[in-house]
Amino acid sequence: MNPLSLFSRDRTRASGDPMAALCTVATVDNRGKPQLRTLVLRDVDSHLAIFVNATSPKWADLQHDFAVHTYWPSIAVQYRMQVTSEPIDAQKVHASWQLRPDMPKQMDWFYEQIAPQSSVIESRGQLHQQLNGANLGTPVAAPTNARGLYLRPFIVERLDLNQPDGLHDRTRYQLDGDHWHCQTLVP
Ligand SMILES: Cc1cc2nc3c(=O)[nH]c(=O)nc-3n(C[C@H](O)[C@H](O)[C@H](O)COP(=O)(O)O)c2cc1C
Repeated sequence: MNPLSLFSRDRTRASGDPMAALCTVATVDNRGKPQLRTLVLRDVDSHLAIFVNATSPKWADLQHDFAVHTYWPSIAVQYRMQVTSEPIDAQKVHASWQLRPDMPKQMDWFYEQIAPQSSVIESRGQLHQQLNGANLGTPVAAPTNARGLYLRPFIVERLDLNQPDGLHDRTRYQLDGDHWHCQTLVP
């Protein structure tokens, strides 16, 4: 069984779940500290994908292997994945960027022209002032720092709590060439 097909099936079952569109991404930063953040987990060309801004410090961290976590309470299933990533073609990123609401579009240009994402600013008032001063209007094209990454999972662990006998079902899938090796784990 390909665990990514299983993931997709489970996510469809959980489609009413408020967390179904999201994941938690864990990276290690340049000081060796763990970092977690919620990101929208997208489906692009039948691959899992994330969209971020490359002015954020996370961009450098995402160039190494990282971890992705989901849990959908509606079906009581958790996934933990180890992934590598691959850049999404700029044209595709830019086409998808067009669908963003106005404010995130403005912020992508703000990061490019005024201050990088996650930099410190004096206050929220200052942020408003600089954003208004930048007079970004409704941007019509994505800045080059809008990026997307396809996720390439190589270890996938599925934990299904919803078992009639109460004994959780835990399976690890490990990619070996183009074959998924499957092991049952003590839950
Ligand atoms: C529901 C939700 C969805 C989010 N989706 C994204 C996303 O798709 N891309 C993104 O860069 N940040 C997203 N964020 C914000 C990130 O969690 C994070 O705060 C931001 O990217 C700054 O991270 P950094 O400190 O690594 O720069 C989302 C946050 C929430 C709460």
